[in-house]
Amino acid sequence: MPVSLADLRLNYTQGGLLETDAADHPFDQFRLWLEQAVSAELPEPNAMTLATVTEEGKPMARMVLLKGLDERGFVFFTNYRSQKSRQLTAFPWASLVFWWAALERQVRVEGSVEKVGAAESDAYFQSRPRSSQLGAWASPQSETILDRSVLEDRLREAEQRWGDGPIPRPSHWGGWRVVPRQLEFWQGRPRRLHDRIVYIMDDDGAWTKSRLAP
Ligand SMILES: Cc1cc2nc3c(=O)[nH]c(=O)nc-3n(C[C@H](O)[C@H](O)[C@H](O)COP(=O)(O)O)c2cc1C
Repeated sequence: MPVSLADLRLNYTQGGLLETDAADHPFDQFRLWLEQAVSAELPEPNAMTLATVTEEGKPMARMVLLKGLDERGFVFFTNYRSQKSRQLTAFPWASLVFWWAALERQVRVEGSVEKVGAAESDAYFQSRPRSSQLGAWASPQSETILDRSVLEDRLREAEQRWGDGPIPRPSHWGGWRVVPRQLEFWQGRPRRLHDRIVYIMDDDGAWTKSRLAP
């Protein structure tokens, strides 16, 4: 049966977000919504779309996993030679989008990016399962490869190289931190009159909260 995209629609009724209820600091609001997404047992609640800009100024987006959040910003890990990392090095700004469908919530984050410190990347790499550590050594992320056997061969090489010993973090693998200047919290509401609360940071680092029309 063909899908009728024009007829796919949902009336959002799960909740609301009023200015008076939204936290003063956007990170507190984000933590609350993330905790609620985790409590609701949503699949991959820390998955987010990461948009970057190519050298020609074209946007490019893909999913990554949020792996750290502190007072500085939002951290994810990847291959520093990947397409996204090359783009972030050339133009260090990014946009993140979270979509928690069952809660009818979207969060958008805009900010500059920086590499996280080597010690922080080391600590996260060491916390990963061994199979993921080997995968980071095996995969030349974003490069064109002939077929799957290239990855299998490289995985075998990595297994032989590191044996049963500890696996160090490859220097071409680590974290990026998105340091937000703007965050928007979107809560679906009935009749398409959704709530949008946006926080914008001023030059002194203070956050101002306002409502946008849906
Ligand atoms: C749910 C999900 C989570 C992902 N998380 C990551 C991640 O944390 N880091 C990563 O490098 N790639 C992750 N990926 C793969 C990326 O979407 C992407 O394919 C890869 O990073 C290469 O992107 P690039 O060529 O634009 O650099 C994830 C994919 C999905 C579907």
